[in-house]
Amino acid sequence: MALNASRSLALAAGLAALLGITQAQAEQIVIKFSHVVADSTPKGQGALMFQKLVKERLGDKVRVEVYPNSSLYGDGKEMEALLLGDVQMLAPSLAKFDKYNKQLQIYDLPFLFKDINAVDRFQHSPEGKQLLTSMQDKGVLGLGYWHNGMKQLSANKKLQDPRDARGLKFRVQSSNVLEEQFKAVRAIPRKMSFSEVYQGLQTGVVNGAENPWSNIYSQKFYEVQDYITESNHGLLDYMLITNAKFWNGLPDDVRSELDDIVEEVTTAVNEEAKQINDSDRQKIIDAGTTTVIQLTPEQRNEWREAMKPVWKEFEGDIGKDLIDAADKSNQS
Ligand code: LMR
Repeated sequence: MALNASRSLALAAGLAALLGITQAQAEQIVIKFSHVVADSTPKGQGALMFQKLVKERLGDKVRVEVYPNSSLYGDGKEMEALLLGDVQMLAPSLAKFDKYNKQLQIYDLPFLFKDINAVDRFQHSPEGKQLLTSMQDKGVLGLGYWHNGMKQLSANKKLQDPRDARGLKFRVQSSNVLEEQFKAVRAIPRKMSFSEVYQGLQTGVVNGAENPWSNIYSQKFYEVQDYITESNHGLLDYMLITNAKFWNGLPDDVRSELDDIVEEVTTAVNEEAKQINDSDRQKIIDAGTTTVIQLTPEQRNEWREAMKPVWKEFEGDIGKDLIDAADKSNQS
């Protein structure tokens, strides 16, 4: 039998008295925010800022618990946990959504965006924004895009032109586009959870990877990679998501306050992400354990020419119009 509102309130009060906690605490909405990176990264900082602002503005009504570094759920399990209601918020990389909406594969196309400002323009366009609400029928609601940054190639050998990658094993996120990207340069892609990458690189299960500076630094990947090529060849950004049923079922006043906080945090993350990546890049150079390689414009062009055929392979899934809209964002 369904409980009516006054009976459930009375129950909450009774339970609270029994446990020696206040009624407000007993009725508290708990938001578990799980992610796979370190607190110091753009996503890690965003999750902590969200937690802080919710505490300041919503007091006892809502409690946010942040679980960084795959400490609660790692890749592969976190989406399932969100759909089951075991966590309420995540910010997976855009490379991890192809099971839910193949159009999101657009963000993995190599050499699509010339820089993070172009990414920003696309994400703010009507085409970019509609992708946030495109998975509601699957129970997933996008609340915003959070930047990390452009990816750099790393390996245990010098990567200057695409032929250098031949035969090397590269760790990729669970994305078919990224698999094809490495096959295009005749390398061997291996899908692997983020939490396994350090060990994979250390033991030689894989020889290389692609990550933004903030992930290379905070996970210490640079300690097990002799070379990093400053390739900026692709993007690693996130979609901040929630369980649609959970979010839509929140009391209106709480949801509206949370929406405002999400907007504020999103702006802050996106302003700070570049600075975090720039400073982590410098820390890696200062550590002196890894050689950072600059590409000449001609070399970068060779990588682009080698990888760009991947666009055509996924045009059917993504849609040519969407690719054109993203490409247009390169013109400021
Ligand atoms: C990865 O698996 O490399 C990234 O998606 C990790 C992250 O969340 O930045």
